[in-house]
Amino acid sequence: MHGLVFTLLKRYVQTQYDHSTWVRLLEAANLTAADFDHKQVYPDEHMYALVGQAAQMTGLSADELHEKFGEYLVPDLMYMYKRLVQPEWKTLDMIEHTENTMHRQVRSEHTENAPPVLEVSRISPTELFIDYKSERRMGALAVGIVRGLATYFEEADQIIVEPTTSENGEQVRIRVRQVPAQS
Ligand code: HEM
Repeated sequence: MHGLVFTLLKRYVQTQYDHSTWVRLLEAANLTAADFDHKQVYPDEHMYALVGQAAQMTGLSADELHEKFGEYLVPDLMYMYKRLVQPEWKTLDMIEHTENTMHRQVRSEHTENAPPVLEVSRISPTELFIDYKSERRMGALAVGIVRGLATYFEEADQIIVEPTTSENGEQVRIRVRQVPAQS
């Protein structure tokens, strides 16, 4: 997994909890204290170990943690890849174009980068389905990223995100709808 994702997991734990929690987490996951380099790829097992240990420590489920972490990731992901984002895009457009912009770019940066395949069916201007496919089984992270995008585009009160399958399979279907803002 991309070093950026590890760097952001570290920052997430340090800001939502504290630095000593991060150190305990590394120890519990049998990893040595390290900084992660954005240009490097680290074993997926390290991510599973860290998130699994964090779930035990916080009492949240791994799915809940992945969702929260996904939400947290968005501003930094957007910042790092903002040159690929068209100014008129909002939440649904961003999701529709992730595969052929952001994730395509990520794949081209390093042969070992492997963001999930997102098949997006835009069935109307206000509704789409995401078919997530990845052996990493991180559909809950995708759900969190969608929520984070809605917040980023100031549409959190209008975007409804509903996984229609289990969130932790290799194939996850997510329905995303835009409804009128609640007043
Ligand atoms: C702002 C746009 C986005 C950027 C810049 C971005 C970038 C990335 C990067 C760098 C990774 C790590 C890939 C690797 O280590 O091989 C990744 C993984 C991932 N991305 Fe995206 N992404 C974006 C949008 C999305 C969206 C909209 C979704 C889902 C709706 C999504 C779902 C995921 C998931 C679930 C992973 C974890 C790896 C996996 O499940 O296989 N991303 N993304």
